[in-house]
Amino acid sequence: MSHLSNVWSKVTDLRVASGHGCRVVTDDGHEYLDFGAGLGTISTGHCHPTVVSAITEQAHRFVHAQPNVYTHDLLETLAGKLAEVTPPSIDSFFFANSGAEITEAAIKLAKQVTKRPNVIVFEGAFHGRTHLTMAMTTSKAILRAGHAPLPAGIYVSPFPNPLASDQDATISASLRAFDSLLATQSAPAETACVILEPVLGDGGYIPAPAAFVEGIAERCRDHGILFIADEIQSGFCRSGEWFAVDRFDVDPDILIMGKGMASGFPMSALGTRRELDDQWPTGSHGCTYGGNPIGCAAALATIEVMTEPGFIENVRSRGTQLRDELFELKERYPIIQQVRGPGLMVACSFDDAEVVPPLLDHCLREHRVILLRAGTAGNIIRWVPPLIATSDDINESTKAFGAALKSLS
Ligand SMILES: Cc1ncc(COP(=O)(O)O)c(C=O)c1O
Repeated sequence: MSHLSNVWSKVTDLRVASGHGCRVVTDDGHEYLDFGAGLGTISTGHCHPTVVSAITEQAHRFVHAQPNVYTHDLLETLAGKLAEVTPPSIDSFFFANSGAEITEAAIKLAKQVTKRPNVIVFEGAFHGRTHLTMAMTTSKAILRAGHAPLPAGIYVSPFPNPLASDQDATISASLRAFDSLLATQSAPAETACVILEPVLGDGGYIPAPAAFVEGIAERCRDHGILFIADEIQSGFCRSGEWFAVDRFDVDPDILIMGKGMASGFPMSALGTRRELDDQWPTGSHGCTYGGNPIGCAAALATIEVMTEPGFIENVRSRGTQLRDELFELKERYPIIQQVRGPGLMVACSFDDAEVVPPLLDHCLREHRVILLRAGTAGNIIRWVPPLIATSDDINESTKAFGAALKSLS
């Protein structure tokens, strides 16, 4: 009998013994192409040597140096490096361990600065599984069901429909709905912040259109509402830019990151402007393990790898290759509804969600390729590979997917 909780949902039943690069090896010796990359955390691949040696060296110095009790050298070093790679508006950093924790921190900061109570989120968003972040999450009902009551003060605004034939019209309608929400439910004087995933993650890899993001940011500026970019999934080169907001003409007030930032080591960060951070009362927030030196070492090593020549170019060109190969499959197999997503966060949507489990199963059992499911209706297959994936790795995944599509026809 297992002593483990059943609460974890399972993507596969594999038992992993080790990992290297884009591959994991199971305890019966089989190698799998891991294009789920630990839900997007294994950004530089499994056991990247630079990351492994940074973690190992740091573990020999000290495992934790709790930032309330004393400081350590890697905190300032990491904050300095993050200031170099984040948008120019961001220059002050706080550290935690997970995405939900750092999202909570962002909302607490926004409430402290604005002295306003409410938060606006978007339909289909995923921000975490704590009570507050669950209330902010509308990607799937199961994440909330059975957990009521959820915290109040969260308002949900529509996200443009990626399937709409008139994109301008869906963007305008979403912006009008946002205006209406401010006029009828959460007045600007009561709205602390808006939080947006520049690419909806769990909601189905839907890139936010530039005119939508810029329209929301402009409204935030006009009303003194803080604009928070949730880059926990899209950040750290995943989108083909350091941060997905880099593609837009916006200056986020707060940017939160996690997942890929430390190549799989639990680590998250909030970046903001010094002027806002200065209004966060000392002692009003904290985190026992936040800024853990091994996490900082892993994050610094991750940044080192990502700034090596050719790294981000690889993300862009492998993303283009992946989308091109998927577009070819879409020509042959019209059950694919849409191919979308920037960089190496790419998805295929299907009209019929029922085709998704057999397709994923075929890739896994017949080709040893791990892909993930997403989307409110579960009708999305997503590619979130390590960012070091090669052309052959991408091709191996699309060949497996092509064979899976053929097996259904
Ligand atoms: C965009 C986004 N925000 C927040 C989270 C929550 O992160 P965590 O699971 O580390 O709490 C996730 C996790 O998938 C995410 O994708």
